[in-house]
Amino acid sequence: MKKLLTIALAAVLCLNVYGQGKDQIIIETKNTSLVLSVGGNKRVSQSYLGKKLQTSEYSQLRGGREVYMTAGMENQFEPAIRMVHTDGNPSLELQYVSHTTNKKDNNVSTTNITLKDPQYPVEVVMHYTTYYNEDVIKSWTDIKQQEKKPVLLTEYASSMLHFNAEEYWLTQFHGDWAREVNKVEEKLTNGIKTIESKLGTRTNFYQTQTFFVSLNNKSTETEGELIAGTLAWTGNFKYTFEVDQRNGLRVISGINPFASEYYLESGETFTTPEFIFTYSANGKGQASRNMHAWARNYGVLDGNGDRLTLLNNWEATHTNFNETRLVELFDEAKKLGVDLFLLDDGWFGNKYPRDDDKNGLGDWQEDKRKLPSGIGYLVKEADKKGIKFGIWLEPEMVNPKSELYEKHPEWILKLPNRPENYGRNQLVLDLTNPKVQDFVFSVVDDIMTKSPGVAFIKWDCNRSMTNAYSPYLKDKQSHLFIDYTKSLYKVMERIRAKYPKLPIMLCAGGGGRTDYGALKYFTEFWPSDNTDAFERIFIQWGYSYFFPSNTITAHVTSMGKQPLKFRTDVAMSGKMGYDIRTNNFTPAELQFSNDAVKTYNRISPVIWRGNQYRLVSPYEGNRAVMMYVSDDKAKAILFNYHMQTRRQDIFGKVQLQGLDANKKYRFKEINLFTETKSTGPDNDKVFTGAYLMDIGVTLAARNTAFTSNIYELMVE
Ligand code: DGJ
Repeated sequence: MKKLLTIALAAVLCLNVYGQGKDQIIIETKNTSLVLSVGGNKRVSQSYLGKKLQTSEYSQLRGGREVYMTAGMENQFEPAIRMVHTDGNPSLELQYVSHTTNKKDNNVSTTNITLKDPQYPVEVVMHYTTYYNEDVIKSWTDIKQQEKKPVLLTEYASSMLHFNAEEYWLTQFHGDWAREVNKVEEKLTNGIKTIESKLGTRTNFYQTQTFFVSLNNKSTETEGELIAGTLAWTGNFKYTFEVDQRNGLRVISGINPFASEYYLESGETFTTPEFIFTYSANGKGQASRNMHAWARNYGVLDGNGDRLTLLNNWEATHTNFNETRLVELFDEAKKLGVDLFLLDDGWFGNKYPRDDDKNGLGDWQEDKRKLPSGIGYLVKEADKKGIKFGIWLEPEMVNPKSELYEKHPEWILKLPNRPENYGRNQLVLDLTNPKVQDFVFSVVDDIMTKSPGVAFIKWDCNRSMTNAYSPYLKDKQSHLFIDYTKSLYKVMERIRAKYPKLPIMLCAGGGGRTDYGALKYFTEFWPSDNTDAFERIFIQWGYSYFFPSNTITAHVTSMGKQPLKFRTDVAMSGKMGYDIRTNNFTPAELQFSNDAVKTYNRISPVIWRGNQYRLVSPYEGNRAVMMYVSDDKAKAILFNYHMQTRRQDIFGKVQLQGLDANKKYRFKEINLFTETKSTGPDNDKVFTGAYLMDIGVTLAARNTAFTSNIYELMVE
């Protein structure tokens, strides 16, 4: 109770309280209430965000802090919005005008709150969409003005949330190439902590745009109050966590306004990206499950649909292949039993053949030396062998050694009067230019028109923006970062209008693009170029806090030196694929892999659509355990990974979660290596759900490093 009160109303004493108006705007999901109040001075405040209240309790809430704080008037902290009017007045006041709630269906409703400045013709509409069953809220704003000339926007957040707790614990996820999403939790102290990206493209290179704020204490998987938040924006983002002098916390989420002053034309609407958040009173595990359910139902393209298993050739061949070698690889895909062969980088360029990353990017015609019969032939050959064919593209980029660069130097982001600055020997195209948008669309459209059998695309983006200047935007350079991302979405809208179902993997030199702004156009993403299974346990664990398993691609490769069984078990907990030469496999390895693909096909509905429970964290010891449970609790799949174990590690029983206490489950080890038997002491026994959750099970007889187990639980 104390916790609830601390979140609710300590703010009553603070500076930014404007009267105690009776008008309330109540925004609810199954387990959460967000209460806004309109004060006597017409300012709208957040009176409460937390565990769902009884209807009768709402009337007890009053005041709070202004919900979308402006700059230039009495607010002395970070604002959500700052505007300079045509006459130079750098202030904004937002007063309540009206609100409406539109019910889309029994699960989804949107509340729209219109605010206006009493002195200037400026209107801000705040939107809150609730996903009742998933306990997720999405918030964003529309900013409009009717002054005679453009006004200047220098801050334009999607959301501002207020908290009053004794302590705040921030969990962030940071990284770099090949070491993405490292989880760090720290206490917020007075002042500002910022998590942001200024990279333009490949935005999540250093920071993943996801966070938890735990209230009062650190939260665990099963205990603690917290919010989990993420911005649906494939560009520069910024989260500001400001603890004020009275220990109140403001969380501001939105586009990063760095170098992005926006001149808003009269009559134009600036729409901020959606901030997606969930509140959990039961730890991080519940918050993740809320996010996963929301993502599958609303956030990811075909989120509840099936995914294709595949054999990719990047790590197996790099750019060194030809038609004959590829057709041989189709045979290997066939032997594995996967659905699709994915041809990676290196298939294009004639004047500048793409034999390495210095040449050819931008010239999307088949390399006639490597592929004399073209893509259409490969599609047909794959089809003859009963597999589908997919292809890699990186349409937003160009190598200086390319025909595209020679033909259209005006299509490239680069500073005048400065030397070109390369990342992976390439430059970024000026996607703000509609002609470049047409070109990027045509890269996909041409492939699909010429070879309609292409069944999958991997969309890569291997550099961030540096020394960026848009020839198209001319004197509006500060619009570049924002307009680039909006232009990317325009192109994706066109692609999806014509190819609504085509599975497309989002990739950015590893996990440089992982956000829900993009994922509504993509079916899955590439988490990291680090495919070492030991490292992947952490990387996939990191993404699992916000993304469902069917979006997290995981390939069996030769990068790690662990046994094939271990590498396969790690890939199977996500969206499984291969990137490996199987002709080096022993007969037993090939048999095992073929069986593993069959097993995956059988159990993937539970992995992809089940509820995930992280049971033992790799951050806390030398093993990792997690499970997926089907909605009806009739089936579950459990993964157990022993990492770099020490002799002294003693792995005790693990208590399972999410099962039906009253049901009886057979607990059976699956995916065993060819001609081996389970040594798990509890293997193939029947337990009640209550026993499995209260007493737990022993997962392996020994603690040997780089061994793993997959167990299937079925109601008897
Ligand atoms: C970076 C990606 O992450 C890799 O998987 C691969 O597609 C290369 N680019 C190809 O250049």
